[in-house]
Amino acid sequence: MKTPAIALRINNMDLKENIQLNRLPKHIAIIMDGNGRWAKQKGMVRAFGHENGTESVRKTVEACAELGVQYLTLYAFSTENWNRPKLEVKTLMRLLVSSLKKEIKTLQDNNIKLSAIGNLSTLPKKVHKELKEVIADTKSNERMTLTLALSYGSREELLNTVKEISIKVKNSIISPEKIDESIINEHLYTRNLPDVDLLIRTSGEQRISNFLLWQIAYAELYFTSTLWPDFTKQHLYEAIIEYQKRERRFGKTSEQLS
Ligand code: IPE
Ligand code: IPE
Ligand code: MG
Repeated sequence: MKTPAIALRINNMDLKENIQLNRLPKHIAIIMDGNGRWAKQKGMVRAFGHENGTESVRKTVEACAELGVQYLTLYAFSTENWNRPKLEVKTLMRLLVSSLKKEIKTLQDNNIKLSAIGNLSTLPKKVHKELKEVIADTKSNERMTLTLALSYGSREELLNTVKEISIKVKNSIISPEKIDESIINEHLYTRNLPDVDLLIRTSGEQRISNFLLWQIAYAELYFTSTLWPDFTKQHLYEAIIEYQKRERRFGKTSEQLS
């Protein structure tokens, strides 16, 4: 029984050793998908999948911090997820509060700052309050910024941005000719984050589901069939190794880069 565990550990170490630490993605974003299907495969209710998904969150956060990734953004609840059955939404919100309470220590121990993006005022009071507390408690941490996308939708974010800029134009704070990409960036929920370098989606679905549409303009996309509760540090290392094999040309030719 012990051999596979040891083998897996050695394998894990090998994978980690294959990562070039001087070429890490600065910002990794993850669409954590497949909790429901994971539970269903086990003959369990969807909530069981969500509960187990929190373990994958902890492992991923730790692995990113250990490697030296500076920004990790996790899609935890979308604007569209409000349309799920009431009970499931309630379970997700309850899990969020309990995870925040439980993981504050992991965040402090690892010097991680928590932030959140999304239409946060739509979250239940309890969630909003807990979130604000953890954000305040970890605001001086500087090893990594962990951002939770909650009640987040990219279109809602862009709408909000357009409204905020329009109000400033109306009040003559910004002149329309001056509107450029940096002004848009400064009004997005992600104003304090750099563009995404690597976007990972688990569960085999190959779509973006309204996540960071503006910010992934030049991200490398990585899709894996692994369901989120099965996602381990090893899977993360695999994604980063694949990322490091890609040539990011940003419109230029390969020759120009070398
Ligand atoms: C991801 O897993 C969690 C959230 C979207 C909140 P799902 O709940 O979407 O699981 P599947 O995709 O139905 O398997
Ligand atoms: C995307 O997953 C949202 C989160 C992971 C929070 P969904 O399961 O909601 O996406 P669709 O419905 O498959 O596109
Ligand atoms: Mg899903």
